[in-house]
Amino acid sequence: MSSKEKRGTFSGSLGYVLATAGSAVGLGNIWRFPYLAAKYGGGIFLLVYIILVIFFGTIMIYAETALGRMTRKSPIGAFTSFGSGFRFKLGGVLNAIAPMIIAPYYCVIGGWVMKYLFAYLTQGMKNMADDTFFSNFISNSESAEFWFIVFLLITLAIILAGVKSGIERVSMIMMPALIILAVIVAIFSITRPGALAGVKYLFLPNFREFSIKTIVAALGQMFYSLSIAMGILYTYGSYMKKDVNITKSGNQIAIVDTTVAVLASLMVIPGVFAYSGGSLKALNAGPSLMFITLPKVFQGMGGIGHITAILFFVLVFFAALTSSISLLETCTSTFQDQLHLSRPKSAALTTVLCIILGTLSAVGYGVLSNVTIIGMQFLDFFDFISNSVILPISALCTCLLITYAVGFDRFKKEIEISGPFTRESTFRVIIKYVAPVLLLVIFVTSILGAFGLYKI
Ligand code: TRP
Repeated sequence: MSSKEKRGTFSGSLGYVLATAGSAVGLGNIWRFPYLAAKYGGGIFLLVYIILVIFFGTIMIYAETALGRMTRKSPIGAFTSFGSGFRFKLGGVLNAIAPMIIAPYYCVIGGWVMKYLFAYLTQGMKNMADDTFFSNFISNSESAEFWFIVFLLITLAIILAGVKSGIERVSMIMMPALIILAVIVAIFSITRPGALAGVKYLFLPNFREFSIKTIVAALGQMFYSLSIAMGILYTYGSYMKKDVNITKSGNQIAIVDTTVAVLASLMVIPGVFAYSGGSLKALNAGPSLMFITLPKVFQGMGGIGHITAILFFVLVFFAALTSSISLLETCTSTFQDQLHLSRPKSAALTTVLCIILGTLSAVGYGVLSNVTIIGMQFLDFFDFISNSVILPISALCTCLLITYAVGFDRFKKEIEISGPFTRESTFRVIIKYVAPVLLLVIFVTSILGAFGLYKI
């Protein structure tokens, strides 16, 4: 669809909230949040994260959604409709590039989820509970590459078939099912002997664990999980009807997203305490945490563990799929608009990009395990570049755009079309002063950290 054709719109508030929550809730909540929370001190990370969501995340959701709705354009068009200078282009381009870096490695992890699902379907559940199952799998390059390509092709098939409404309908059933199942597994996990220490670790902040690292990690996670600073919210805002209340729906999205992240942590972190005594090594396991701890929880559940595991990975697969569809869709529509390519050509370009960058990530723990960039494996590097480097700058561009090009009054008018501008003064202070400072600090510390000049 070229931008000149009639733009589709969401049916209403529910349609908008569901579609946006569907894109927000994904691997970020279930896979990424628990491992970061485990690594960065549990309760203190959760506390910082929630404060950031309330005072910063929701504000950024309002900002991007309203700019999208005001201009009826995706990010590059939205930025350049306020001016044609380099600064405007930069803001738009950065917002558009982030999903291009995230999409490939997202599909790699989607492949890991499929591998587990397949393994649970075909081999019982004992093997997966083994400590080495995960590392053996990801160091086997052919297998990791194979599942990555399968996941990518499924995503692509859906995009090309354009069964978007089908997927939306499916996710309306899948999302509540995921939440119910997560509650069941979480209850099981927290009632294991020794697991209560994990609940305490997650909910009682230990202020001694606090450092700038906590903020950097929590902020990066918030961008990732709420899909902020990567064009999605601009694009979805541009499909939004004028009578949908921007602030209210933004809050609802943030609440759903954060709830799923907390539930996922309740499945994983108490499990770490129950099955490995909460050792520092287990808590620091990083990206592999979900793939190592949860299988042990399932195994511990006995007979029903097997079916629970299958259901669980089916649902995670769907959550990942709805997110990867919107990630690939964003890349495709950017290529379409900016390079004036047809939709199939743009989709092909997205695929080539995903295969190249994704393959580096997929085999990064196998044949390429000796190759690191600034000390990181490819997957970690792409994650770092997008979440700690590009996202802070593109979010900064959005703040500057509102303050200096759009102007608060014009912005306020857009919000007030559909309801009162609640938290208006917070919005102004955050966008004008707090966010720019915070974003710069994050950006500088992550760069210094990556080059070993600051211990991150
Ligand atoms: N927010 C998604 C998650 O938590 C991942 C994601 C990041 C995403 N950027 C996106 C999804 C852009 C859709 C569009 O898993």
